[in-house]
Amino acid sequence: MTSTKAEVDVGYSLSNDFFRLWLDDRMHYTSAVYERPEDSLEHAQENKARILYDWAELDAGKTVLDIGCGWGANLEYVAKRGIKEAHGITLSTAQFEECLARKIPNTKFWMIDYKDWEPRLDGEKYDGLQSIEMIDHLVSPAQSRQGLAIDIYREYFRKLSTWVKPGGVFAFQAILRNRVPRTRKDLQDLAFTADIIFPGGLNPRLEELVAAVNPYWEIEKLETRRVHYGKTTAEWLRRLEANEKTIRETWGEQVFTDYVRYLSTCVRAFANHWSSDVQMKLRHIAL
Ligand SMILES: C[S@@+](CC[C@H](N)C(=O)[O-])C[C@H]1O[C@@H](n2cnc3c(N)ncnc32)[C@H](O)[C@@H]1O
Repeated sequence: MTSTKAEVDVGYSLSNDFFRLWLDDRMHYTSAVYERPEDSLEHAQENKARILYDWAELDAGKTVLDIGCGWGANLEYVAKRGIKEAHGITLSTAQFEECLARKIPNTKFWMIDYKDWEPRLDGEKYDGLQSIEMIDHLVSPAQSRQGLAIDIYREYFRKLSTWVKPGGVFAFQAILRNRVPRTRKDLQDLAFTADIIFPGGLNPRLEELVAAVNPYWEIEKLETRRVHYGKTTAEWLRRLEANEKTIRETWGEQVFTDYVRYLSTCVRAFANHWSSDVQMKLRHIAL
């Protein structure tokens, strides 16, 4: 079972103004790519969007779908670089409202579960697909324990392969789970993040994704971004703490305490290899 709409709203619909305070100015809620040590968060997020635009082989004559499009930050970049028609889907009410408010040229948004989606291009398929850290909402911890994860991810990759033109490309990014921490406190902090901040989901393992793209997609490029996500979450935490007074006054003590605990856990998770992140360029196998 994917995260329900109610579970997605816990993670993303608290308040757009809350997330605006500590994310980058476009509100990407996923790992940035720091190409130079001096890159700002804003610059590093644009690097990420540039890589995924290039990997999806987009240009002003192409069409694209962003699955799990957040507040529209990636598609804002896509529209700026050039696109014929872009579509974005999200399950979060607050994100959907923000996407519409941005009035991004050549871009349309829907609030819909990807399982209910069909391409809306007058019978055409997309030239490219993009999805940035949405796959962690597909498998529940219980389903993973039952050994169902690869089958569920494979069904996702199969479904998406029917939306793209033969030989089309999919620029994909996912947060990953790697090693298991050793101390009770670290385990409790990770469980808190999973249960309270992002209920209903589970980060995939890289080997599960590599198995699940078969037989629909060929992996043409793969880059891990663990260190980049460590820097990204450290900067989110710094900005969150810099806004402590406003957050405590507007959203309450518990929200501030919970988000400090969650983001500090993320920083330790990437430093200690409990978590990582991957970008892949996938090519549709047209056989
Ligand atoms: C971590 S956020 C990433 C947002 C955005 N891609 C970014 O880079 O900032 C995960 C996104 O996946 C979306 N999502 C989760 N489950 C979904 C589903 N079943 N169908 C469509 N979108 C979903 C959420 O609404 C959210 O926009």
